[in-house]
Formats: sequence, structure tokens, C-alpha cells
Amino acid sequence: MADEKASVEDIAPGAIARAADITDGIAARIHRPVLLDECVDLLLPAGRRPDPVIVDCTLGLAGHSLAFCEAAPAARLIGIDRDKEALELAARRLSAHADRFTPVHASFARFAAVLDELGIDEVDGAFLDLGLSSLQIDEKDRGFAYSADGPLDMRMDAAQPLTAADVLASYSVDGLTRVFRDYGQERWARRIAQAIAEQRQREPLEHASQLVDLIDRAVPRRNRPAGNPAKRVFQALRIEVNGELDELRSVLPQIALRLAVGGRIVVESYHSLEDRITKRFFVRGSRVDMPRGMPQIPEGLRPYFRDVSHGAVKAGKDEIAGNPRSGSVRLRAVELTLPLPPAVRNEMLRDIELAEQRKEKRR
Ligand SMILES: C[S@@+](CC[C@H](N)C(=O)[O-])C[C@H]1O[C@@H](n2cnc3c(N)ncnc32)[C@H](O)[C@@H]1O
Repeated sequence: MADEKASVEDIAPGAIARAADITDGIAARIHRPVLLDECVDLLLPAGRRPDPVIVDCTLGLAGHSLAFCEAAPAARLIGIDRDKEALELAARRLSAHADRFTPVHASFARFAAVLDELGIDEVDGAFLDLGLSSLQIDEKDRGFAYSADGPLDMRMDAAQPLTAADVLASYSVDGLTRVFRDYGQERWARRIAQAIAEQRQREPLEHASQLVDLIDRAVPRRNRPAGNPAKRVFQALRIEVNGELDELRSVLPQIALRLAVGGRIVVESYHSLEDRITKRFFVRGSRVDMPRGMPQIPEGLRPYFRDVSHGAVKAGKDEIAGNPRSGSVRLRAVELTLPLPPAVRNEMLRDIELAEQRKEKRR
């Protein structure tokens, strides 16, 4: 995969100049940062230390990062994105802070390697705003939207080999059923998978409209849930193509292992499975797990996270009305309160290894 190697110097000044016609106003209109004030308030206590390092793992169009830079004038910001185009636009938007901003073209699952390449041992804050930016959804030829007849691509990193068309052409009926059911909670997963297996013998599925029509024929009209029946299948395919859940399972422990005590992790999820992974990871570190009746908590069992968001924060009615994308957001944040005990470090290293093995299998 192209994102095997992070490219810190890749975002050339020429690329930034090419994006010069994209003004802050246009970028702000195409992607509105979700729960912006809440994210700044939750992340930036970490940015008040002298020379803090903040990593935005999903830079996108830098809506959140711009606010982080403004609220933490002493902070160094590392902005990671696997989408080169987004990175170029973000670099342009952050040009006023260019002296303390480093754009990195990589998957955030390479978090530890990116820090190594930059010579950074510890970070004070890490932020994830998962999923797609509005720019990606709106770009017809990226194939993310069921409403636009683009090619069935769906790669966030255009240099990655696996596309949605490849998944549709090569996965077994069982494999497709699992993807649609697990990642899209699609009730008619098997029926749709069977219809795909039949249709691909006649012609390859290459365009969004072919898949939309196929789903429309496969899903019974009676008792159809509200909305376009293709929505859940498109979401599921996107999660599979980009390995999104394993990327998240891999990055959370990588961040925790490089977080300074007092540092924070802030995550915005838009899918229940992403939120479940984040919640489990945070809860594991913020609860005491010891037998009843013990007079005091042994050293290695003390909670190492403090839940600073007090569970999941949701968007309010007004924000949802102005930005429907915020309707499904769940924002969670923790602070590291003590150095990770050796047993926890080992467990996290194992989890990273497992997530990497699962990603490897998909390739
Ligand atoms: C919701 S957008 C972020 C928007 C950003 N917070 C803003 O305000 O402009 C998510 C971004 O994360 C990127 N992304 C998603 N998964 C990624 C991964 N595994 N590694 C790196 N970037 C990823 C996407 O390419 C997209 O640009």
C-alpha cells in the first residue's frame, strides 16, 4: 500500500499553491467541523503545557485543527490523513501556522512509525474525527455516494489497491453477507450478496448506479426502512475497503503508548461499531477491576484513564439541524492519569499486533 511509508515532505509548496483558490470560506462550507467547541475544550488542557505536541489523526480539511492551533498558540501540530487531496487543502488552510504544523500523508494506523520518523517520543493530545469528509462524499468520481453515479472505488487513499469493485467481484456470498450485515446492519444482507453473485456472472459491477439498482430490486418493497436502501450497503463497503475498524483498533493503543501523563485522547465516531471499540478501550482503562473486599487498589490495577467527557457527548438539536452529519456523532475523551503499567503495555502491544494481522489478511 502507498501509505506504508509516511510522506512528511510530500506536501510540496506547489501543491499548496494549486489549492490557493480554495479559500477558508469555501472549505468551511464544504466541511463543517462537528462539536467543534466541545473538541477544543476536551483536547486542549493537554495543549497548555510548554511545547505540547498535538496529533490530529484525521486532518481532513483542518476545521478542527485550525481551532486547535488558534486555541493553543504554543502547540506543535502533526496532521495525518490518508487522503492526499484533503492534506493539500488542509495545509493551505493552516498556512498561517506553517511554522508549527507538519502534514503527514499516512494511515493513522502508522501512528507510532510517523512519530518515530519525526523524532517525537511523546504526545500531549491526539484527536480522531472518524469517517469521511464532506469533500470526499461530494466528489462523484470517488464512488462514496449512492446518489452520484461514480465508479465503485471508495478508497480514501487513492494509491491503495483494493477498491469497492474488487470486493464486489471477488468476495464469496458469505463474505459479502458478513460485510453488509456486520458493518451495515443490513437485514437483507444475504439476499443482496446473492444478487451480486448472480449479476457479476453477466457483467462486472463497476458503477454506483448498477449497485443501487441491484439493491432496489433485491430488497422487498414492503416494510422497507426509511431512506435509500442502498445507504447501509454503501457504508458497509466503505468500511471494508478502507479496513476502518481495524485501523481504529490499531491506533488507539498506539496513541496510549505514546501519550504523556496528563495527555488526552479525543474521538468522534459516527458508526455504532466505531463507538463500541472506542468505548471499550476507554472503559478498560478507567475502571478498577479487582476482587471485592480488597482494602486498597494494588499498584498495577489502578485506573490509568480518567473519563473527561463523562460518557458520550452528542450533538444538540441546533447543530443537527444545520449539519445532519452530526446527528450520529458520539464524542468520547479520556486523560492519561499515570504511566501505563507494564502488563497493560504488553496487552496493548498484543492488540496492535492482532489488528495488524487482520489488516494483512484483507490485503
Ligand atoms: C471526518 S473527516 C475529518 C474532518 C476534519 N476534522 C475537519 O474538521 O475538517 C475524516 C478524515 O479522516 C481521514 N481518514 C479516515 N480514516 C483514516 C485513516 N485510517 N488514516 C488517516 N486518515 C484517515 C479521511 O480521509 C478524512 O479526510
